[in-house]
Amino acid sequence: MSGNSGFPLFLLTMQKILFVCLGNICRSPMAHGVFRDIACTQKLNVEIDSAGTSDHHTGEAPDSRAVSTMANKNIDITDLRARQFTREDFDRFDFIYVMDDSNYKNVIALASNQSHRNKVTLFLNEAFPGKNQNVPDPYFGGDEGFEHVYELITAASLSLAEKLK
Ligand code: 4NP
Repeated sequence: MSGNSGFPLFLLTMQKILFVCLGNICRSPMAHGVFRDIACTQKLNVEIDSAGTSDHHTGEAPDSRAVSTMANKNIDITDLRARQFTREDFDRFDFIYVMDDSNYKNVIALASNQSHRNKVTLFLNEAFPGKNQNVPDPYFGGDEGFEHVYELITAASLSLAEKLK
């Protein structure tokens, strides 16, 4: 993509992306880490953050199973800390990617106008448009659930990276 001058627009426009789940300790920090890794490799001009709709885990590091699943892929997410989604995030971010229908409802309930609502998308629709698939909550399951989350969010992250180029 380029402007009239031929100067690539991506060098001028930083896209701000927020990933949201319930606790901000499993799915959204994994999405944060996967997309950060891809953005770094592909030199995308993006700002990335993640948040949870609940405040239950505020200040906590990602779940140890999320950390080890990601470490097995050579992605370090130990620097991330959980925080709660706030209304201000609608103005701070260009794209708000939620992991499931419940997160979608919770985030949309905080929106105060259509411009805010337009920013909110189920993350897997980037990889599987129109399917409205959820990233399943792996918290109460075993390690294989985290591996499945990794596969799904990697597919969506690669599609998102292509879209932003
Ligand atoms: P997340 O997973 O929304 O992917 O971070 C969960 C984390 C914690 C809980 C549920 C889901 N919890 O009930 O504490």
